[in-house]
Amino acid sequence: MTQQQTWSQRFESALHPAIARFNASINFDIQLIEYDITGSQAHAKMLAHTGIISTEEGEKLVSGLEKIRQEYRQGDFNPGVDAEDVHFAVEKRLTEILGDVAKKLHTARSRNDQVGTDTRLYLRDQIQQIRHLIRDFQGVLVEIAEENIETLIPGYTHLQRAQPLSLAHHLLAYFQMTQRDWERLGDVLRRVNISPLGCGALAGTTFPIDRHYSAKLLDFDAVYENSLDGVSDRDFAIEFLAAASLIMVHLSRLSEEVIFWASEEFRFVILKDSCATGSSIMPQKKNPDVPELVRGKTGRVFGHLQALLVMMKGLPLAYNKDLQEDKEALFDSVNTVKACLEAMTILLHEGLEFRTQRLAEAVCEDFSNATDVADYLAAKGIPFREAYNLVGKVVKTCIASKKLLKDLSLDEWKQLHTAFEADIYEAISPRQVVAARNSYGGTGFAQISKALTRARSQMTTHTNYL
Ligand code: ARG
Repeated sequence: MTQQQTWSQRFESALHPAIARFNASINFDIQLIEYDITGSQAHAKMLAHTGIISTEEGEKLVSGLEKIRQEYRQGDFNPGVDAEDVHFAVEKRLTEILGDVAKKLHTARSRNDQVGTDTRLYLRDQIQQIRHLIRDFQGVLVEIAEENIETLIPGYTHLQRAQPLSLAHHLLAYFQMTQRDWERLGDVLRRVNISPLGCGALAGTTFPIDRHYSAKLLDFDAVYENSLDGVSDRDFAIEFLAAASLIMVHLSRLSEEVIFWASEEFRFVILKDSCATGSSIMPQKKNPDVPELVRGKTGRVFGHLQALLVMMKGLPLAYNKDLQEDKEALFDSVNTVKACLEAMTILLHEGLEFRTQRLAEAVCEDFSNATDVADYLAAKGIPFREAYNLVGKVVKTCIASKKLLKDLSLDEWKQLHTAFEADIYEAISPRQVVAARNSYGGTGFAQISKALTRARSQMTTHTNYL
């Protein structure tokens, strides 16, 4: 079928070759081929079910389409630009295989509802795959957290030493962030899994189709209520890109932390050879390319979200060719998110080693136990703000005399306030500082054990989507 033959007889000459290339989406939407075939098979079955075509014709269409699926899987179906897009490519091949009966497939359908169906089927699959990858990532986080309940790590606010934490607590923060990602994707799925098939070009069709029947065959939960909305809507794609962007926000924050943890300034982690790269000129270098790439790729996904929002803004109903631009944005975002989740899972699992000795030293070398001195006094009835001011002064004097709080003698403590007793030393030891934060969701060791139990049960909770 040449370009002229694709269109109705009103066209007299073929497309300019450069315009044909410009117009074509086959180079990227070929990725939708299996969804296109599955969608067309459901459409053919519906046409037969409603008597619009005969049962025999329906069966021929279904098996012809199946043959194309096999050809594609074997690498024998490679349509070029002349096919324009995957929908025409499949229809053209079906006509070669079946002859005239293939021409009945497009009854009561338009490429507008067809492409919407394909995109939703693709995204539904990809969302499930991404959710599995999130589970793998969370599994590794929980594993490392379990081994590091008692490993302490400096906690920061404003990137200034704030209060020490259990390393498990730090890692479980990422667990909860990705748990929201997993749930959010489930919520997006509710609106992805709605069938536009049968909306036709924009207005529905004159044929007595059964949209619910084809929707059921394709495992959609519902059908679009309004045909015009059904072919115009890309909210589901934007929602997915927003959810994907948040996944990247979370991965890029962890990436940034790993990058500085691995620096000479921090030395909190060692990068293993399997996940680090060298420099072409500086022989001593070991670079954190994996988290850097994840951090860098984050911008792509944000960009695609922005591109789709702008593409949709002010777009008149219903289908406009602008909508063809949604695919590369979706494909690239899906591939990026999957690759980043996988790489970060491997990095955590085998590419990083926490330097526990160095971490243990790090939590002893600062004033991140100062709050605990104030809490100590407050627990003895001194108003917290008063205690806070007093400890501020203590820290100032310590800095001047190059001491840490633990270096003050009991006499010095008592001079500061008579309420201080010998148990102040225990109260400001990093281990106790962490253990004492036993409020719900806090870093105290007893809380971490409970948090781990909750995390494990969150991971195994499978409601339908959420
Ligand atoms: N390749 C097109 C797309 O991806 C398919 C739909 C074309 N529909 C149309 N009316 N030209 O959006």
